[in-house]
Amino acid sequence: MRLDKLIEARLQTNRKAQKRLFLTGQVKVDGKVERQENRNVDSQLHKIEVAGKRLDTGENYFLLHKPKGVVCANRDSEHETVLDLVAPADRKKGLYTVGRLDRDTEGLLLVTDNGQLGYELLQPNRKVAKVYEAWVKEPVTSEDVIAFEQGITFYGGVTCQPAVLEILEVTPGPTKIRLTIQEGKFHQVKKMFLARGIKVLYLRRVAMGPLVLPNDLLPKEYRELTLSELQSLQDYFR
Ligand code: URA
Repeated sequence: MRLDKLIEARLQTNRKAQKRLFLTGQVKVDGKVERQENRNVDSQLHKIEVAGKRLDTGENYFLLHKPKGVVCANRDSEHETVLDLVAPADRKKGLYTVGRLDRDTEGLLLVTDNGQLGYELLQPNRKVAKVYEAWVKEPVTSEDVIAFEQGITFYGGVTCQPAVLEILEVTPGPTKIRLTIQEGKFHQVKKMFLARGIKVLYLRRVAMGPLVLPNDLLPKEYRELTLSELQSLQDYFR
């Protein structure tokens, strides 16, 4: 949560009083005077003290296993949304999904009301790795692996950054692959394969940055991030 918003909410200060707290060095994070008013803090990660009082943030961070058929929108008149999967007691104001998965894609989503954290995780210069596993219809060759490594160009001319394609399982029918990308273009994985004449039959996100989809988290289920998962996101708080 933004430090200035936290102070406003917890101490009911007006803008002027808040500025004064910063100017007079009465705002401390982890024991050090903090001057950056919009710094993103969380009391599970940071010790926040303002005019000698300890403040708690109370934001929410959920790891959710999105099933097929559910959309990543706040509201949808036709389909169930990811937020519909969150129990009413946990459905806090401002909760949203960090990045989107297509309706027919399954897998890991971070759902939070910490907007600044989500913004940082999606910044292209942060190069947050997204790992997908997929079954694709056609055989995948070492030429495909090299093409992904060099940067796929979509039909229409948009070029992607280099991506790591691994072949996991070859069958007489579909092929299982793992793909690691650092971007989040619309329908990116499907369009990358399409550019190689390959159709994605099934797609699942298994990791985003340091967060990994746990084996025991079934589709439709969600849970709070553990403290160590939240700590692994520390670099994205600023
Ligand atoms: N790429 C896609 O094509 N779809 C998704 O849902 C995510 C990445």
